[in-house]
Amino acid sequence: MTLFSRIVGTGSYLPPRRLTNADLVAELAAKGVETSDEWIVERTGIQARHFVVDGVNSSDLAFEACKQALAAAHLGPQDIDLLIVATSTPDMVFPSTACILQHKLSQLSPQAAGIAGAPAFDVQAVCAGFVYALSVADAMVRAGNARRALVVGAEVFSRLLDFNDRTTCVLFGDGAGAVVLEASDTPGILATDIHADGKHVGLLCVPGHVHGGQILGDPVLKMDGQGVFKLAVGVLEETARTVLAKAGLQDSDLDWLVPHQANIRIIQSTARKMKLPMDKVLLTVAEHGNTSAASIPLALDAGVRAGKLQAGQLVMLEGVGGGFAWGSVLFRY
Ligand SMILES: CC(C)(COP(=O)(O)OP(=O)(O)OC[C@H]1O[C@@H](n2cnc3c(N)ncnc32)[C@H](O)[C@@H]1OP(=O)(O)O)[C@@H](O)C(=O)NCCC(=O)NCCS
Repeated sequence: MTLFSRIVGTGSYLPPRRLTNADLVAELAAKGVETSDEWIVERTGIQARHFVVDGVNSSDLAFEACKQALAAAHLGPQDIDLLIVATSTPDMVFPSTACILQHKLSQLSPQAAGIAGAPAFDVQAVCAGFVYALSVADAMVRAGNARRALVVGAEVFSRLLDFNDRTTCVLFGDGAGAVVLEASDTPGILATDIHADGKHVGLLCVPGHVHGGQILGDPVLKMDGQGVFKLAVGVLEETARTVLAKAGLQDSDLDWLVPHQANIRIIQSTARKMKLPMDKVLLTVAEHGNTSAASIPLALDAGVRAGKLQAGQLVMLEGVGGGFAWGSVLFRY
């Protein structure tokens, strides 16, 4: 009997257009928006971000990350019987980015067409999207409803940014990360923990929506930075403790923390509360900023490819973002 799901392959992709803080500062200065490399680095830890060019969508970034994850798992699209994409920047209002991605994957080779027919859907939990998607996939695998799942976080957040608002436009980037999850007799994922509290919708949102052929409301990202900061550090500690308790483990058992890569100060605060030295935290925020649902699988894949994660190690993923939505996943690599 299958009791667990295991991560058997990871992949990630950043679009080639890379803007350092200096590049962004110069672009913003040309529009009369004043910021600096020093301010961005000191308050956020971000040094660069990647932006897509026109015509490139979340499904395109997801496609590249999935090819890598499948190759790492020595599998093809035809081996996948569940596809979940976490995104808040879908290619279209509908159908889901997962359906669009499924079709792209199905065209990779004659055999790849076998992925058609597998359930494919999006999860929208903003920066907590990847832990939400992984929790859902884990539950479906453990229930026997899937044997091999592709779980993806993919975002083009640059499309949501107001480049006249220096308090938000320096923080985000585009990218994608993916994992292959496989049914297994041994763990694998030990525990998951996801939450939301909709009373905080206004803290971090993109209020606009499509209405009668027009956009109603403001279609750019709005954030109360300090409000988000305070809430984030509280719920991240809470979910970390909950997921460890569910698995009967403690802070000191952790080998790696792979946090949502929004801001180095939020990450440092969580690590401090968990009494975890920073050399046990996988960090990629400097290189790609906040890529929302993509940031955790991007950091995870970087850790795997750098040879940091070793078989059997205990790893915690945790994410938090708009909604408010937050959660964590604990697994043995
Ligand atoms: C956004 C954030 C970095 C701002 O840092 P902060 O220390 O709270 O800064 P404040 O908002 O208090 O602003 C301090 C000053 O910096 C200024 N400032 C804001 N953005 C700036 C920028 N890009 N460049 C230069 N100055 C900036 C403000 O205007 C303010 O100036 P004032 O004191 O003259 O009014 C911080 O609140 C944060 O990290 N929040 C969490 C955001 C996040 O992670 N969101 C995603 C969660 S998924």
